[in-house]
Amino acid sequence: MNDRPPAKDYLVDLLDRYWFAPPVALWRAVELRTAAEETYPRPLLDLGCGDGLIAGALFGPGGVDVGLDPWAEQVRRAARSGVYRWVQQADGHRMPYADGSFATVFSNSVLEHIPDPLPVLQEAGRVLRPGGRFIFTVPSDAFRALLHGYRVRWERGDPEGAERYAAGVDARLAHYHYHTPDEWADLLARAGMRLERARYYIPEPVERLWDRMNGRYGIDRWSPWRALASPHLRSLGYQRLLRRWVVARLGQAWRPYYEMDVPPGQKGGGLLIVAQKGGAS
Ligand SMILES: C[S@@+](CC[C@H](N)C(=O)[O-])C[C@H]1O[C@@H](n2cnc3c(N)ncnc32)[C@H](O)[C@@H]1O
Repeated sequence: MNDRPPAKDYLVDLLDRYWFAPPVALWRAVELRTAAEETYPRPLLDLGCGDGLIAGALFGPGGVDVGLDPWAEQVRRAARSGVYRWVQQADGHRMPYADGSFATVFSNSVLEHIPDPLPVLQEAGRVLRPGGRFIFTVPSDAFRALLHGYRVRWERGDPEGAERYAAGVDARLAHYHYHTPDEWADLLARAGMRLERARYYIPEPVERLWDRMNGRYGIDRWSPWRALASPHLRSLGYQRLLRRWVVARLGQAWRPYYEMDVPPGQKGGGLLIVAQKGGAS
């Protein structure tokens, strides 16, 4: 069986799914283009699955064995998504599975929201088979310094303003840490796993665009777009046109950003980590 997700246009797919929040679609499209280069042997656990939208884009209907999330509303949505064979409300600190239940644990944009990720890494290691892989994405150690708002303040000689800006983003997104690949390697070793690969994605121009567009599309504050895209106005019907406009217009305008890789030797704002259980370092 081929365990690699299908090669597809994640930009168009995610603009369609997240039409109401286009910068979220951009970040996640680049993230999934990166994640799609890995293989995901089953049984597959999606740790912190949220509503299942991301796993649905990556693995397709029925593509994941188990989804786990502590948030009841998200668990209900994930169960309705048709992506998982089984969805469970539980916490990553105490997963209700026997040792060695899974060949792969996938976790997208979750660990940065957990103040001390070590116990969750240990649980992921416990539920993996020997030789199984834990594949996760997190914002990287370069995330804060690549924010557009951080860079402009830094470049005009205002390091305190840059720091305040980044701290505001941390608080809004509930990010608790930004580890380097070496720091992840240490944490993983303490959880019985070996870092196999760490790949930066989201190069500087993409992160700067994402940060500016969060303002324009009202992800972090009120905007006309946010009002137009409100779920309360869904019954008026015009949102179908907005959705089509987003996919057609931004699918073209943002394509060069979607296709951009992090230049060799540089860092990006996102980090994909692949770790193996029990691999010798
Ligand atoms: C940014 S969302 C990402 C959801 C999904 N993975 C995605 O990519 O769309 C972060 C998710 O992590 C979940 N989460 C937070 N703390 C967790 C924990 N201790 N164990 C498992 N999941 C957790 C939240 O409930 C939320 O659904």
